[in-house]
Amino acid sequence: MSGTQEQQDGPGLDEIVALCKRRGFIFPSSEIYGGVGSTYDFGHYGVLLKNNVKDEWWRAMLRDRDDIVAIDSAIIQNPRVWEASGHLSGFSDPLVQCLGKCKRRWREDHLREAIAAEGGDPAGEIHCPQCGGELSEPRQFNLMFETHVGPVAESGTEVYLRPETAQGIFINFKNVLQFARVKPPFGIAQIGKSFRNEITPGNFIFRTREFEQMEMEFFCPPDEAGRWHEHWMEERMRWYTELGIRPGNLTLREHGPDELSHYSSATSDIEYRFPMGYSELEGIANRGDFDLTQHAKFSGEKLEYFDQQSGERYVPHVIEPAAGVDRALLAFIVDAYDVEEVEGRSRTVLRLHPRLAPVKVAVMPLVNRDGMPERAREVYRSLRERIGAEYDQGGSIGKRYRRQDEIGTPWGVTIDGETAADGTVTLRDRDSLTQERVPIDGLADLLLDRLAADWRGPKPG
Ligand code: GAP
Repeated sequence: MSGTQEQQDGPGLDEIVALCKRRGFIFPSSEIYGGVGSTYDFGHYGVLLKNNVKDEWWRAMLRDRDDIVAIDSAIIQNPRVWEASGHLSGFSDPLVQCLGKCKRRWREDHLREAIAAEGGDPAGEIHCPQCGGELSEPRQFNLMFETHVGPVAESGTEVYLRPETAQGIFINFKNVLQFARVKPPFGIAQIGKSFRNEITPGNFIFRTREFEQMEMEFFCPPDEAGRWHEHWMEERMRWYTELGIRPGNLTLREHGPDELSHYSSATSDIEYRFPMGYSELEGIANRGDFDLTQHAKFSGEKLEYFDQQSGERYVPHVIEPAAGVDRALLAFIVDAYDVEEVEGRSRTVLRLHPRLAPVKVAVMPLVNRDGMPERAREVYRSLRERIGAEYDQGGSIGKRYRRQDEIGTPWGVTIDGETAADGTVTLRDRDSLTQERVPIDGLADLLLDRLAADWRGPKPG
């Protein structure tokens, strides 16, 4: 986390947490038992939003191009995978513990980064930020969760929950080459859960011990790696801004030599201006031939590409855009969150890109009489089949609009007295608040057209 320049004009994290709970996006996990530190469950709208984020990622990887294939590998893999990848020996963070009153544990690197961000000397003496106590010497703490296969937890049965999805891609390189009819440059993409026993999880869903990643390993001829690294940095920045993130809240930061992971020769992070400051949203690394070479060495398999045309044999280099589903979701919510004054009243609205919005259109009968609910249900059914719709009958119309605004529903359709007479409804736009009279016939097509339009939102850049 570079952690500089806090978001002054955006929402605080507390407001985001409150909205997510109030509107059923995200709940603290095991809440009825007092919770289990920094673990969260996703409610109905959270699931829909998360699915849309993942679907947009698959669209960018698979449907918008033809040089990437998909995979879904196991979470528990042979432990040799983690020996070869370097995670068993090197995937650790420096842990320091307070020797004073509070006994809290901290990541030493984070404490030093925070001091540097405030203009202090990061190499100087550090103390516990909580109680000012002395800190222990740092010790390396491996982040992998260990468990056992089989009924007895004995030596030789240890396995690990994967800390990244990437290795499941490398160990399938040969399978994919054989069966997917691909040749470099090509990519293998995967979305799935990863697990890290983080020393200091926190900032809501920003850093948790169980999270989802969207990772793609792009295999290319070694001399093309630089060009593809540039390509993927551009593509991934574009993905976020096209889905509505303000360009001014995003930055691309290149890692310094002391920050690089053991496998990387160059990495740039896409950082987002979260409420707690600029922090990593996605890393785009040049992993070179590190992983394929290591797995070839440890498994004895040849993991290389033979180009029949040129007769050349080589180990492809890898460019890896690695994103977090949960972090992306948090960034989309933070960026979309807005509070404004409308006719003397405060309105909270999530200005989500319509493609991300959990519900695309809410159908609301204006009053509960004259067969209106029946007519509204018909309209709802006709929309539900074509576009994500929700039927909303409860409470005053103002209350219903407030609810839909807070979950980011871009359009509201109200059925009123005129509907029975002329077959039209009122269509309300979440962002402009304009209301227009439109015929029920063709309503689904109209909304689908608006959904497909290249929407960059009304948010200032
Ligand atoms: N395969 C490379 C890799 O895993 P990473 O930078 O450690 O790289 C990639 O992770 C992305 O996964 C991060 O940019 C972040 O979005 C997400 N991520 C990593 N650790 C996380 C955590 N503890 N909680 C939530 N998301 C996390």
